[in-house]
Amino acid sequence: MKTYLVTGGAGFIGSNYIHYMFDKYGDSIRIINVDKLTYAGNLENLKDIEDRPNYTFVKADICDAEAIGKVFAENDIDRVVHFAAESHVDRSIKNPEVFVQTNVVGTAVMLNSAKAAWENEDGSFKENKRFLHVSTDEVYGTLPDDPNAYFYETTPIDPHSPYSSSKASSDLIVKAYVDTYKFPAVITNCSNNYGPYQFPEKLIPLIINNALAGKNLPVYGDGKNVRDWLYVMDHAKGIDMATEKGRIGERYNIGGHNEKQNIEIINIIIETLQELLPDSDPRKANVTKDLITYVTDRKGHDRRYAIAPDKIKEEIGWYPETMFKDGIRLTIKWYLENEDWMKNVTSGDYQKYYEGMYANR
Ligand code: NAD
Ligand code: TYD
Repeated sequence: MKTYLVTGGAGFIGSNYIHYMFDKYGDSIRIINVDKLTYAGNLENLKDIEDRPNYTFVKADICDAEAIGKVFAENDIDRVVHFAAESHVDRSIKNPEVFVQTNVVGTAVMLNSAKAAWENEDGSFKENKRFLHVSTDEVYGTLPDDPNAYFYETTPIDPHSPYSSSKASSDLIVKAYVDTYKFPAVITNCSNNYGPYQFPEKLIPLIINNALAGKNLPVYGDGKNVRDWLYVMDHAKGIDMATEKGRIGERYNIGGHNEKQNIEIINIIIETLQELLPDSDPRKANVTKDLITYVTDRKGHDRRYAIAPDKIKEEIGWYPETMFKDGIRLTIKWYLENEDWMKNVTSGDYQKYYEGMYANR
C-alpha cells in the first residue's frame, strides 16, 4: 500500500486531488494531508472522506521543519504531492513576504525533510520514492496576443508577480535537489484551474458569487487578458500520472488547450446562470451583463497564458478530457447546489479581505 503525504490538501486543487485519488484507488492507498488551514484551507471540502481509515489530517505549517520531520518519522512515505502554497496573485501584490515564506521556504523544508527520510547512507535514495512539485504556468511570464505563441517546458522562466516569482523560485530549489543530490522529484506547471471548492477570490467563483448576489462583476483593465482554463479533475489526473510515469528531474506542462479572454468567461457565466436558475428564483432577473464593471487594472497584469501540453501527452499519455462548456456547467451547478459552502467561506475573514481589496478599485 502506497502512502501519500499531500500538502495543502484542504485547498482547492488539493481537495479535488484527494477526492480523485480515493475515487480511483479506494482502500489501496493511504493519504496523510498536511495543511496549515490558512484562509484558503477548508476542511469542509473533505468532509465526505474524513472518516476513512486510510485518511489522516495533520494541521501543520510546511515551514515547520520539526512538525514535517515528525510526519516522515512516523510514516513510511512513498509519495509527496506538494500543493501547499499561497496562491493568489492579488494577495501577493499586497503582501509578498508570506509568499516567499510559504512557497520558497516551505518547499525547501518539504524537500529537506523528504531527503532526510529517503536518503540511504551512501547518498542514494530508497527505491520508488517520488516528490511531485505542483507549480504553475505563471513562472514563464506572459505571452503576446499571437495565437501561435505557447509556453513550452523549454520557455525561459520569466515571472512577474510576487506569486509567480515565488513559485519559480520553488521550482528552482526542486531542480537544485535533483541536480545536486539526484533527489527523485518531478515538477508540473499547470494553467488556470476551475471547478468545485475554489475560493471565491479567483475569477470564476468570484463572478458566480457576485452575480448571484446582484453585485458588480469587476473586470480588470480591458478584460482581454487571456488565461488557459483546465477543469480541476483533469489536473488531478495529470498530477497522478506525472507522479507515477514522469521522468525524475523533468518538468511537464499541463494545460487545457482552452484559451479565453476574461470578458468571455464572464459572459459565459452570466449566460449559464440564466439557463440554470429557475424562473421562480428572484435572483435570475438581476443576473445580466449590466453588472459588468471595468475597474483599475492589476499591477503588472500578465497579458496571456497558453500551455503547449505536448510533452506530457507524448511521454505520459495525459491530455485534457473535459470540454470547457461541460466543465463550466458542472462548476456552476456545483456552486448553485452548495450555496452553504459559499456562505461559510465568504463570511468572516474573507469578507474583510474582499472589502480591502476592492475598496479603491
Ligand atoms: P489554494 O490557495 O486553494 O490552497 C492552498 C492550500 O495550502 C490551503 O489549503 C492552505 O491552507 C494551504 N497552505 C497555505 N500555506 C500553508 C503552509 N504554510 N503550510 C501548510 N499548508 C499551507 O491553492 P490552489 O489553487 O489549490 O493551488 C494549489 C497549488 O497548485 C499551489 O501550489 C498553486 O501554486 C498551484 N497551481 C494552482 C493553479 C490554480 O489555477 N489555482 C494553477 C496551477 C498551479
Ligand atoms: P485569477 O483567477 O486571480 O487567476 P490568475 O491571476 O492566477 O491568472 O485571475 C484570472 C484572470 O482574471 C486574470 O487575468 C485577472 C482577472 N480578474 C478580473 O478581471 N477580475 C477579478 O475580480 C479577478 C479576481 C481576476
